[in-house]
Order: sequence, then C-alpha cells, then structure tokens
Amino acid sequence: MNQITGKAKLAGVIGWPVAHSRSPLIHNFWLERYKIDGVYIPLPVKGENFEILIRGMMAAGFRGCNVTIPHKERAFQICDVLDPNAQHIRSVNTLMFRDDGSIYGTSTDGDGFIASLEAQNVNLEKGSALILGAGGAARSVVAVLVQRNISVFIANRTYERAVELAKAYDLAQAIKWHEWPKHLENITLLVNATSLGMEGANSCDFDLTHASKDMVVSDIVYVPRETPLLKAARQRGLKTVEGLGMLLHQARFGFSQWFGVDPVVDQEITELLASSLKS
Ligand code: ATR
Repeated sequence: MNQITGKAKLAGVIGWPVAHSRSPLIHNFWLERYKIDGVYIPLPVKGENFEILIRGMMAAGFRGCNVTIPHKERAFQICDVLDPNAQHIRSVNTLMFRDDGSIYGTSTDGDGFIASLEAQNVNLEKGSALILGAGGAARSVVAVLVQRNISVFIANRTYERAVELAKAYDLAQAIKWHEWPKHLENITLLVNATSLGMEGANSCDFDLTHASKDMVVSDIVYVPRETPLLKAARQRGLKTVEGLGMLLHQARFGFSQWFGVDPVVDQEITELLASSLKS
C-alpha cells in the first residue's frame, strides 16, 4: 500500500451516482505503481452541490478532478479556460485547478479514443470512418477524427441528431441508420458509439457483409469486453479495438497533469480493469 503523507496530491471523480466508476481503481493503481504520494477518491455529489464541491476542493488544495454524468455540461460552464476538444463538444470530463485560482477544462475521451487505436497500430492517416451514434461519446469521436482530416459518416437511430452533429463539420455527413451496412465498402474505421451491445441491452446484430478486409472495428462499449460488434468483426477476420483501451487512455491525461507522470497502459492494468468489470 502506498504511503500517503500530509503532502499528498489530491484528485477524484465527481458523479451521481459514482459507485460504478472505475476511475478510482485506475488512478490508485497507477499511484501505487509509480510510488506517488497521492490519492484519488470517488465523490458522489448531486447536481445542486456540484459547484459548492468544486470550490471546496479548490480551497482544500485538490489538483483537479474527473467529472462524469450528470455534471459534464455544468463543468463545461464553470471553466475559465477550455481546450479545443471541450469547446467543440461543449462538455468536459477533466478539470485542472491552477495556482492562479482558475479552472482549466478538457475533454479527454476523443484523445483517449485515438490513443487506444494508435496503441493497436491502427493507421489513421487516410481513409474514412463510419460512426454509429450521435450522443456525447459520438461527438467526442467525430471531433477528433475530423481534426485529423478523416471524413466521417454518422449514422444514428434518430436521424435528426446525426444531421445536427454532421452540420458542425465540413468533413462529416449524416446517413440513415438502416443504410449504414451498405456504406461499409470504402470505410476504413467503423466505431460503435451507441449503447448497443452493452451488457443487459437487447442482443443486436451487426451486418458487416460489405466490409472491406482492411476495415478496423472499434467499440466504445466495454462491458462485455467483446461486444456483439467486435465478435462479428472478429468472426470476419477484421482487426478490432476494444473499448477498455479508450477508458484507460482517456485517464492518462488527468493523471499526468495532477500527479506528474504519464502512466503506461499495459496488460496488467487492462486485466485488472477487465476483472473488476466482471464482478
Ligand atoms: P452517450 O453520451 O453515452 O453517447 P447518449 O447521448 O444517450 O449517450 O447517446 C446514446 C446513443 O446510443 C444515441 O446515439 C442513441 O441513439 P438515439 O439518438 O436515436 O437515441 C443510441 N442508441 C441507444 N439505444 C439504441 C438502440 N437500441 N438502437 C440504436 N441506437 C441506440
């Protein structure tokens, strides 16, 4: 067990509820691995108390925190400075409390997604992507892909939401939900950013008949670890990237800012996280 002194660096995750969050497990694992005098705690707080808590944390010397449902938009509003990703998607998941009393906000999901692909040697230099979904997760993914000059097709069950999201980018285009399987021919990256396939959700079929053999398939859902989409892709011999990688890589940025070390995402933390999700 890490020794925590009176000078420990403090961070945490604010959410309601927050008990399901795996962020404390991830950050405290890294704190111990790198022998850092620090601690990362869950902070279950309802909406009306969010700002009181933030000011209290700042007064208590916290370095910053992660923010999860339902606080991401509110967190966006209280920031003094925002990174471009957060500005695009109007939501933040990571806050840094700076020495001058200001709050810096960033959204690390998109960069976490890209890092998880890069960790699997996925080449993002050319090609086009098809994103399933138009919610918060899809917004993060679309923003970072178009930043990298990748054209993006967006298919969403509620077509209007896909149109609305695509409108924000020259490189994005909405397509009808039932038509996405026919669009796969020239797609190099398919991403499920819907909740389809989550454990407990209705079983679902993904038709990958038209996929080219080089298409990479990734899922932001990480319970189950092999989602129905990833299973269908594996059965067709396609390269897959699981959602656990995004969860781990999005955590890296906050950790390095608060605790001063860029942590490595390796097999050990991936397996620890995977086994915690089974229980
Ligand atoms: P998040 O912020 O996690 O992305 P969200 O904003 O609730 O969550 O978005 C959930 C996404 O999953 C949406 O794209 C949703 O489609 P709608 O916009 O039509 O609601 C999608 N989704 C959820 N259940 C679905 C289902 N059974 N079939 C297809 N898409 C589904």
